[in-house]
Amino acid sequence: MQNFVFHNPTRILFGEGQIAAIGPEIPSGARVLITYGGGSVVKTGTLAEVKAALGETDYLEFGGIEPNPTYETLMQAVELARREKVDFLLAVGGGSVIDGTKFIAAAIPFEGEPWDILAKQAPITSAVPFGSVLTLPATGSEMNAGSVITRRATHDKLAFIHPLVFPRFSVLDPTKTYTLPPRQVANGIVDAFVHIAEQYLTYPADAKVQDRFAEGLLLTLIEEGPKALAEPENYAVRANLMWTATLALNGLIGAGVPQDWATHMVGHEITALHGLDHAQTLAVVLPAMLQVRRFDKRGKLLQYAERVWGLRDGDVDARIGAAIERTRDFFESLQVPTRLSGYGIGAEAIPPLVDQLERHGMTALGERQDVDLARSRQVLELAL
Ligand code: NZQ
Ligand code: ZN
Repeated sequence: MQNFVFHNPTRILFGEGQIAAIGPEIPSGARVLITYGGGSVVKTGTLAEVKAALGETDYLEFGGIEPNPTYETLMQAVELARREKVDFLLAVGGGSVIDGTKFIAAAIPFEGEPWDILAKQAPITSAVPFGSVLTLPATGSEMNAGSVITRRATHDKLAFIHPLVFPRFSVLDPTKTYTLPPRQVANGIVDAFVHIAEQYLTYPADAKVQDRFAEGLLLTLIEEGPKALAEPENYAVRANLMWTATLALNGLIGAGVPQDWATHMVGHEITALHGLDHAQTLAVVLPAMLQVRRFDKRGKLLQYAERVWGLRDGDVDARIGAAIERTRDFFESLQVPTRLSGYGIGAEAIPPLVDQLERHGMTALGERQDVDLARSRQVLELAL
């Protein structure tokens, strides 16, 4: 096992009715900015529930944060928050709203051009504190310090990670996910699945607990995912899915093990140029990525084949091939296409995607930094 430091300061308020408990989590006398997306939380009543829970707290609202949140929109919130002297943020929504709120939190006190936080990884020294009410289990943003922001004008989708942007608290009420459209339920399952894969399907590091934990999370997604689509108001299923997605990317399974993230980096470029949902890009890239790197990853792929898919027979190559196919079939069974062609994207799209990777310095990806541009191109060609 590798050395690690693990610290996760986010308080989780889990379960039905927990929105009512946010009052004491917000500093008394705070001036709050509630942030939300395109309006689902207005329609579902979640926003009204949050406001009721705030009681006498002084608050303002900023809606309209889009999926794949943009710098252009978020800077309007930054200006509002600066003008109104907001000192606490409350994100109500999915990963995009929470990621966007992390950027707003870091940008408010930032001196200089806030885009540099992403483009130049400019260091931040303070951030406005914030909490979240999660409505879409997928990204893990509710319990991590990462944020992915898009600059519409230049087609850049870039990430920053900083301990100052861990949420102070996050409410995970599974009943708030009942209203999700099937496409977003499926996206969430795929995103969580691939987060686990990025931290598990690397090379053996003798990290027994992390491996068993990752396998348990994958098995839970395989068991519960289809049920969430079939029975949208099954509380137990939604609760298991919600907690699985959070644990998939809150730092726990990634502590002390090598991490990959090449699938995500290639996926981000597909969203930036073609607008696919984040999870759709992952469903396309992961099977091809595993195929191209099956020799380097054979130790963990064999373990995955056996422990997650029960594949114990046949030679090594056959088992690895079958595990990759099972992965693809699982995504397809959730109605998430796993080929670029499934989204109307052809071979002509590949050179611009490779150029984007080069422009963003994504030239040595993966747990061994050996996914260069040629390999990324190979992955994209295999994903057609
Ligand atoms: O915008 P509204 O109207 O709220 O509708 C949203 C949006 O259209 C809707 N939705 C959310 N909760 C709902 C609901 N509709 C009905 N009922 C509900 N309860 O779902 C749509 C998608 O929402 P979004 O927040 O975009 O989805 P997701 O949570 O999948 O977030 C994706 C973003 O997170 C980033 C992605 O790159 C992408 O930008 N990621 C963030 C990560 C992190 N912070 O650690 C890691 C991930 O790998 C990922 O990159
Ligand atoms: Zn993801």
